[in-house]
Amino acid sequence: MILEENKGGALHGTYRVIRGHSVSGVVRPPGDKSISHRAVIFGSIAEGRTEISGFLNSADCEGTLRAFESMGVRVDRQSPHQMVLESPGRLNLLEPNDVLDFGNSGTAVRLMTGLFAGIPGFRVVTGDESLRSRPMRRITEPLKRMGADLDGREDGSLLPLAVRGGTLNPIVYENLHRSAQVKSALLLAGLGADGPTTVIEPDPSRDHTERLLPRFGGRLEKVGSHVTVWPSHLTGTDISVPGDISSASFFVALSLLIPDSHLVLENVGLNPTRTAFIELLLRMGAKIEVVSNPEGENGEPFGNLDIRFSELKGCTVPLEIIPSLIDEIPILAALAAFAWGTTEIRGAAELRVKESDRISAMVSALRAVGIEVEEFPDGLAIMGEGPDRALRGGRIDSRHDHRIAMAMAVLGTRLPPGESLLITGTDFVDTSFPDFSALFNGVVR
Ligand code: S3P
Repeated sequence: MILEENKGGALHGTYRVIRGHSVSGVVRPPGDKSISHRAVIFGSIAEGRTEISGFLNSADCEGTLRAFESMGVRVDRQSPHQMVLESPGRLNLLEPNDVLDFGNSGTAVRLMTGLFAGIPGFRVVTGDESLRSRPMRRITEPLKRMGADLDGREDGSLLPLAVRGGTLNPIVYENLHRSAQVKSALLLAGLGADGPTTVIEPDPSRDHTERLLPRFGGRLEKVGSHVTVWPSHLTGTDISVPGDISSASFFVALSLLIPDSHLVLENVGLNPTRTAFIELLLRMGAKIEVVSNPEGENGEPFGNLDIRFSELKGCTVPLEIIPSLIDEIPILAALAAFAWGTTEIRGAAELRVKESDRISAMVSALRAVGIEVEEFPDGLAIMGEGPDRALRGGRIDSRHDHRIAMAMAVLGTRLPPGESLLITGTDFVDTSFPDFSALFNGVVR
């Protein structure tokens, strides 16, 4: 076994990884996290029946589902990935009788706060230690401009937030954080405004809200960089969630890194606002074949990726694509160490306020295994030394961040024979990819 997952005992919540010799097989990544959250949120505010298949049953998405159950949405679960929701409609959701705890999930807490601002009732939202330190002003400030009645620690900058919903004023808002969470929170709030609400994006962020909301009857229009939503009555529909390209990225990286590898990833979401990682790797010399079904289901394209071991060239990541590969930067940084030459990632200061400070976490972890890295306030540069570069084992801290843990597990497969890497804080992998270690051990030999 290349990746030993320790659950229990003194090593609880750790991975131990050793060298892998090749990767082969076929993997179906788990359901997309962003789409699973939205399927549950929209299905829970759309009157009537919504059937969701391909749902990601991770800690984050299960938390969103539980929150709606506590507000009167009926959930009939056929399997971990399949369910039928029955909703009384957006304006008839009940007031929950306790604080809603969204755990580690920034997407859940930000989108739900936007929603709650525009529906009747009083709600308090919070999260785990990491989420309670993440910035909320980016949503509370524009929501207050819409007339929302909400408050929180440090004048609404930090969780917990208390929201008393009501009718909102429409606004036009420029999303300078380039954040899909901010955009989606405001579009959800806009459903409860008394006119059209517009969000302007300088660079496109993931557009799942724009693609999915109209499926439920939401009136939404996209013109250039402007997205406008009108107050709309939503009705239930069926949603099929494709595989998560961000989870798939760890398997893409494994196959590119380990000689003699050939892996097929099936049913991967290929929404163009999420594929910048693949496009960048192709430019770096990766042998990846993309077989896409552009029609997709629910307007979300998906397809298969066929990946073979490749020698990569380092690159400077173009600033404008940063929002479209923001979650893939930890694994990109790991891959870059095995490319030829330097890879520079700038304009990514947002990484400092993710589940952990991902710039600092990756810089420390990469240095700990012997990789030369330069840290910038808004990014990092990784000195690549090609596919046979040296690496040393030891112990690194994932800082309870799922993507740091998985990126470093992938890197661990390039250790010299006889060495191992102990990664701590890996229990948080369950927030996005509960089967990661099983799928990993199924394809790496
Ligand atoms: C997400 C948006 C991104 C991403 C997160 C999921 C979403 O965050 O990092 O994992 O589902 O809208 P930001 O919008 O804050 O960049």
